Amino acid sequence: MDIDISLVGMEKGSQYETIITSLCDDGSKNAAPFGTIAYSKDELMFRIFKTSLTASNIYNRRKFIVNITNNAKIFTLSTIGKLPKEYFTDDKEAILNNCDAYLKCEVETLKEAYKKHDPVKSDGKSYIIKAKVIEIVKNKPCPQIVNRGLYMLIESLVNYTRIDIVDDKLKEYYLDRFSEDQRVIKKVGTKNDKESIEILKNVLEDKGYEIKKFEP
Ligand SMILES: Cc1cc2nc3c(=O)[nH]c(=O)nc-3n(C[C@H](O)[C@H](O)[C@H](O)COP(=O)(O)O)c2cc1C
Repeated sequence: MDIDISLVGMEKGSQYETIITSLCDDGSKNAAPFGTIAYSKDELMFRIFKTSLTASNIYNRRKFIVNITNNAKIFTLSTIGKLPKEYFTDDKEAILNNCDAYLKCEVETLKEAYKKHDPVKSDGKSYIIKAKVIEIVKNKPCPQIVNRGLYMLIESLVNYTRIDIVDDKLKEYYLDRFSEDQRVIKKVGTKNDKESIEILKNVLEDKGYEIKKFEP
């Protein structure tokens, strides 16, 4: 089978929000959301904090599943660690039964990384994982994959339509939001998202608004 991650809507260089499912040492199944970077036609990259169960499952087993869904409840329940068993298939492997598509992955490289200026309070240690996609299963013809870039762009567009008619406090809030939206879009967005936020930034600057660099 010729693997091509564009079949599930991934564009090289962009980051998507997906649900990683993995098997634990005791045979139980785990699910949690993680950013998935489209690295090449058949490879994905992840930065996963070592403290997560997913990190240790991947470290131990060297294989895992990337599930594609835009189901808000699956994202929510798996984030808080309360995704019921019924959300998994009967398979031996951990796979979500309600996902639009899933990608079976095998670890190619797993390296420890330390991000000095990470605002997230942990010891800063994570694994940078490069994985080969060995199989793609589509449950729906057009899988709906989540990219935060588009949502942030839409927020920026809505705020743009209001910025001239709100008070100064709200103007300032919109500009701060714009800086953050722009930062995230530059990091995770598709080419189209990145070009769009640039267009919007130029229009805002032409109107005389100052877009500051976002400092977390
Ligand atoms: C949309 C979304 C994306 C996330 N992406 C990442 C990520 O790329 N790396 C990471 O270490 N944690 C990420 N997280 C946080 C993990 O999902 C969270 O730490 C989770 O509790 C880990 O669960 P586990 O211990 O069952 O593996 C993300 C959370 C959400 C909601």
